[in-house]
Amino acid sequence: MNHSAIEEINGMNNVFIFDHPLIQHKISLMRDKHTSTKDFRDLASEVAMLTCYEVTRDLPLESYELETPIGPCQAKRLAGKKLALIPILRAGLGMVDGMLRMIPSAKVGHVGLYRDPETVKPVEYYCKLPEDIENRDCIVLDPMLATGGSALAAVEFLKNRGVQNIRFVCLIAAVDGVKKLHESYPDVPIFCAALDEKLNDHFYIIPGLGDAGDRLFGTK
Ligand code: PRP
Ligand code: URA
Repeated sequence: MNHSAIEEINGMNNVFIFDHPLIQHKISLMRDKHTSTKDFRDLASEVAMLTCYEVTRDLPLESYELETPIGPCQAKRLAGKKLALIPILRAGLGMVDGMLRMIPSAKVGHVGLYRDPETVKPVEYYCKLPEDIENRDCIVLDPMLATGGSALAAVEFLKNRGVQNIRFVCLIAAVDGVKKLHESYPDVPIFCAALDEKLNDHFYIIPGLGDAGDRLFGTK
């Protein structure tokens, strides 16, 4: 746990950092530069699945009656709006399978953004969302929250399409990115598995895990 980074986000009540030992262990393996593409991909999916437990903690339930083999039972099931997962391409794709294993009926919308290497600003190149997106609660997925530009653009995009309830889930966040997203959209909870203090001169998270997209897809 990076205590000085944690201090920097002190008071932000909509930011959640997972301290579960399994998540911390798997994040360390992902950070390791010797971890293979295959293992990195598996780990991203596993961590996403584990985070899903907390990210969906406040989903509403309703009671209904069913019959067990022994007799009647007052049971509970998910109620409320349907869900959509919104991975930010490309690296967000690495978190989709893990999440879908827990919430298989969620629809998936894709937002394609890349960081321009010169300006570091997000450039949109693709978007395909479920038709009824404004009637869904959205979980935006991206392993990395660095400057926050990409996350902000994705959230803004969904808000402009009428989505009211958005959660943002990442694996590693930098303090800068958390502050930027939280200040712009304090209603959007930010979930991350690790919080790192800084960005380097190329706006990569230090120590981070490198380029998440390249490590997931073996492109470098
Ligand atoms: C990475 C990452 C985020 C973004 C984070 O994507 O997956 O989308 O950078 O940086 P930011 O917070 O400063 O915007 P990248 O642009 O490298 O594209 P890729 O997923 O296609 O590799
Ligand atoms: N994108 C990444 O993939 N890694 C970083 O550290 C920052 C942006």
